[in-house]
Amino acid sequence: MSVDNNDIYNKAQELVKAFGEKLGRVPTAAVITFGCQMNARDSEKLIGILRKAGFCIIEEESADFVLYNTCTVRDNANQKVYGHLGIAGGFKKKNPNMRIGLCGCMMQEPTVIEKIKSSYKFVNLIFGTHNIHRFPEYLVSCLEQDDMIIDIWKEGNEIEENLPVERKYSFKSGVNIMFGCNNFCSYCIVPYVRGRERSRDAREIIRECERLADEGVVEVMLLGQNVNSYGKGLENGISFPELLKEIEKIEGIKRIRFMTSHPKDLSEELIQVMKESKKICKHLHLPLQSGSSKLLKRMNRCYDKEQYVALAKHIREEIPDIALTTDIIVGFPGETPEDVDDTIDVINSVEYDNAFTFIYSKRTGTPAAAYEDQVPEAESHKQFNRVLEAVQQMARKRAGIYEGQTMEALIEEMNENDPTLVSGRLSNNMIVHLPGDASLIGSIVNVKLNECKGFYYLGERVE
Ligand code: SAH
Ligand code: SF4
Ligand code: F3S
Repeated sequence: MSVDNNDIYNKAQELVKAFGEKLGRVPTAAVITFGCQMNARDSEKLIGILRKAGFCIIEEESADFVLYNTCTVRDNANQKVYGHLGIAGGFKKKNPNMRIGLCGCMMQEPTVIEKIKSSYKFVNLIFGTHNIHRFPEYLVSCLEQDDMIIDIWKEGNEIEENLPVERKYSFKSGVNIMFGCNNFCSYCIVPYVRGRERSRDAREIIRECERLADEGVVEVMLLGQNVNSYGKGLENGISFPELLKEIEKIEGIKRIRFMTSHPKDLSEELIQVMKESKKICKHLHLPLQSGSSKLLKRMNRCYDKEQYVALAKHIREEIPDIALTTDIIVGFPGETPEDVDDTIDVINSVEYDNAFTFIYSKRTGTPAAAYEDQVPEAESHKQFNRVLEAVQQMARKRAGIYEGQTMEALIEEMNENDPTLVSGRLSNNMIVHLPGDASLIGSIVNVKLNECKGFYYLGERVE
């Protein structure tokens, strides 16, 4: 069944209209998003569907229809969702017409479904990561009655094109280039909840980027769990660097970013394409996870400390003004203080511009969850603080090096605290605040970086 099926939208629109007549106003809907850029992009599609059905989109959880797009990469992501569900349940008591839905990665876990069925009976709708294109049908069923609808698919083979989308920003957009993951890092739940790796047809991706450019988008962020393996499994597929070269040709697109790049398949071709490119941003997120070769092996990352450091140094030599950022896990089973020393050693030799640091979270069903040498929480916290300190010290040192220079910034929003300032993003992903007004949002301007404030700059516009 095609999602573009107009019948289902007509039906949804009728029901939303009837809902509105009962309420005496246009019904509101909100999508609350947890997790990564993939989820953020999925939420834009979910919002697109809700808008097409006739809802007025708001951001408050008190909406008449609230949908939580969940993440399960670490346990605290799950706990947050349960906390929010408690709040939504309270709203539903006051507004019995309210409908509450859940979707996303956490819903692919059977234990989660059991818990919701027994403890959160007021939930109306549960679906997973493989069937978001069926949301219009679920929405119709939800509006017709108040029971709990559950539909979880184990795998998704098709890639659904042409869902309605409502972009959060008018001038930048995520673009999915692949879905799922085949890497099975031993700590990670993503391959289980997002399924096997599937690449989108390059022509579809390019067409989407062209359409976005026509709509005024100047920056695209290409999304995949491992963009470096893009194209594998496609008939006549092109490689990721080739895809980048094609997108570079699209006139209106001024900046290209991508996430995430697995070090094990980062090719020389990619480095050269980045080096030559005028549009690919000077930023590479290259998750390390650990600096210890022993742990990297147990994590199934397929590189060791020396290979990673050599790769990072080579990238810095080829593209000197690139910012390198990373992800680090502390407290993986079997980690000793010496392993953490190795991680800190890599931080200091690669000189990361920034890093996300996470405490290992045991994910049921992953190989590492069964390892016997789990690290006690107190020890993980102690080691985490050491790593964080090293990361912050390095980030401060790196941030300072561009002070006084002039760089291009894409102005993204008004400054949250000071209405006379706007906030922009440099090619290297750093933020700069400068005097300006809303008319600048979405444009790329030259900014002199007057003062480094640790993790961001204060600057001014120059011609
Ligand atoms: N595909 C991306 C990562 C997606 S998950 C990649 O391989 O780079 C984002 C980050 O969450 C990972 O890089 C890892 O650092 C962290 N992460 C994943 N599983 C985790 C776990 N069980 N505990 C703690 N952090 C985890
Ligand atoms: Fe998880 Fe590894 Fe896949 Fe990234 S590459 S999503 S860390 S399994
Ligand atoms: Fe979370 Fe799913 Fe992304 S588990 S990190 S939202 S792919």
